[in-house]
Amino acid sequence: MRIVDCGLRIVDCGLWIADFRLGNGIRTVTFNSQSAIHNPKSEIPVEIEVGCGNGRYLRRAAGERPGHLFIGIERSLSYARKAQERMVKYGVGNVRIVRADASCFLAERIAPESVHTLHVYFTDPWPKNRHAKRRLFQTPFFETIHRILRPGGQVFIKVDLYWYFEEIFCRFEQSPWFTVAACGMETDPDRDLCEITGFEHKALVKKGAVFTLVVERSAEC
Ligand SMILES: C[S@@+](CC[C@H](N)C(=O)[O-])C[C@H]1O[C@@H](n2cnc3c(N)ncnc32)[C@H](O)[C@@H]1O
Repeated sequence: MRIVDCGLRIVDCGLWIADFRLGNGIRTVTFNSQSAIHNPKSEIPVEIEVGCGNGRYLRRAAGERPGHLFIGIERSLSYARKAQERMVKYGVGNVRIVRADASCFLAERIAPESVHTLHVYFTDPWPKNRHAKRRLFQTPFFETIHRILRPGGQVFIKVDLYWYFEEIFCRFEQSPWFTVAACGMETDPDRDLCEITGFEHKALVKKGAVFTLVVERSAEC
């Protein structure tokens, strides 16, 4: 079974979601349930993961919060396929995988104030100075997440490099649009594998720590 198409289509109120078709002619994963029709004013909470990799976090979170609609955005086709296959394999019905660049997709395809929670786990740090502009947490990305999050909506972030954590933390702390709700450090690589992402496990074993940050979109801005 292989995915042959992941065209985007508009669903409702400016929210676009991928429609994957599986290529053996037997199964088609389409968007035909009520949960797929997202209206920003509806009560279905939408959670988005940026760079969802193979979808391990999404699968668990979707099981824990069955009333939420999850969107995983992944730039790599092979990882997007793996994530989609994982959802099919485990019969997860409330996740949609989008193969796209997250910055563009969020900026252009997501309606204002329509997202309850954004998850960004181990986004590429682009450590060289000459590549710094490629980092996700740039001014346009802050503008985008401020626009798409509901007032009080949260962003959950994990990174494996302290300097990068500091950079992201400072930018949120200096912004009038967000409040830092929590931050911390995790060091235990033996935690239940179901509770951590694939990359997190590798980072804990290799580097000994990961850094976590939770920020909240201010209600009044
Ligand atoms: C280090 S991996 C982490 C994967 C997963 N979040 C985890 O914790 O296991 C980073 C992932 O983000 C994806 N990615 C990086 N930049 C992206 C972007 N601008 N838009 C969408 N996906 C992106 C990469 O393809 C990769 O799968």
